[in-house]
Amino acid sequence: MSRDPPDDLFLRACRGEPVERVPVWIMRQAGRYLPEYRAVREKHDFLAMCKTPELAAEVTLLPVRRLGVDAAIVFADILLPLEAMGAELRFLAGEGPHFPEPVRRYQDLGRLRRPDVQATLGYVFEALRLVRRELDGLGPGGRVPVIGFGGTPWTLAAYLVEGGGSKQFEHLLAWSYRDPKGLGELLDKVAEVSADYLAGQLEAGAQAIQLFDSWGGLLDRDRWDTLARPPLERVIARLRRDRPEAPLIYYVNGGAHLLPALATLPVDVLSVDWRLPLSEVRRIVSPGKTLQGNLDPAALLAPIPEIERRTEAMLAEGAGGPHVANLGHGILKDTPPEHAAAFVRTVKGRSAAEDRLWRGRCEPNTLRS
Ligand code: CP3
Repeated sequence: MSRDPPDDLFLRACRGEPVERVPVWIMRQAGRYLPEYRAVREKHDFLAMCKTPELAAEVTLLPVRRLGVDAAIVFADILLPLEAMGAELRFLAGEGPHFPEPVRRYQDLGRLRRPDVQATLGYVFEALRLVRRELDGLGPGGRVPVIGFGGTPWTLAAYLVEGGGSKQFEHLLAWSYRDPKGLGELLDKVAEVSADYLAGQLEAGAQAIQLFDSWGGLLDRDRWDTLARPPLERVIARLRRDRPEAPLIYYVNGGAHLLPALATLPVDVLSVDWRLPLSEVRRIVSPGKTLQGNLDPAALLAPIPEIERRTEAMLAEGAGGPHVANLGHGILKDTPPEHAAAFVRTVKGRSAAEDRLWRGRCEPNTLRS
């Protein structure tokens, strides 16, 4: 299942192999900034979309068709495996994820189980199989790889312990100082299930895996190394053993201070936010490492000529080594889709007219037909 697709630019760049140009995709590319997404979302709630493989696959493909990105990312969420472990998960309108019964102390660990991922998360695997089938049917330039993803154990624990998003994460941080061993057991449990889940995604056809460490930056470097790294390395080791050929991407937000530690993380690609220029990230990690990023998502709210200028500047910053163009975090929901298109077009070195021509060749070929 994991054979490289014809349009494998993204996978080659991840592996640091020679490429004709820098590939590009956008974190949260299948999201609320797209009117086609909002149209589906009007009729279904978010979790129902994740759990209906046909809908998830359809939404996954929207940005491939509209923007011509060089990779698809399966439509799902990092929090789904926590639900599979027995934590009730709700998405509240306008407020994001919510766990009504957070896991706040060692005694709460008894509520979590190691689920059979095929039985509980099989809908994500089915979505991946459908996406692979659809992508194979697209024309040249559209037969791109599909990325699977998950959260790092630390970032997943952050949501589970707080009960949702948070400004300070005081429950998580208090536990980490009060009882690091107990919290370590939670991280180990989450790591085990994550490894099963991500291995299942690769098995179902994902051709690369991105690990989101959205809250890794809460920790100083020593604490990241002692608390967050060991369970993450176990997940990585399992994926490496199962599928050595599938590139692994590690994304951190607000983690510039962690870069000296991240330099030794056994992943193919380091995905960074916009707070440091890529040339500086490269100096700290290593010249040969593939970097992914890192335009400020808010830059896509600027007028198009400014987006073009800043995208070119980012490409110049990244030119010292292998690079996958992306934003430094997820695309903002108020981004005009034409602005996202300008970003992708600029990386591809295409004109607006060439871009329209390409899109004409990638018309829907819908799942239901
Ligand atoms: O990139 C993609 O297009 C693939 C799908 C994807 C989603 N979530 C869909 C989604 C991916 C890769 C994620 C990752 C994710 N989910 C992260 C890591 C990335 C990051 O932002 O740091 C995190 C922390 C989550 C948890 C999560 N899911 C939050 C905090 C929220 C609410 C905030 C928000 O942006 O809406 C979600 C909801 C969510 N996940 C939506 C989508 C499309 C919006 C749901 C809606 O339509 O209301």
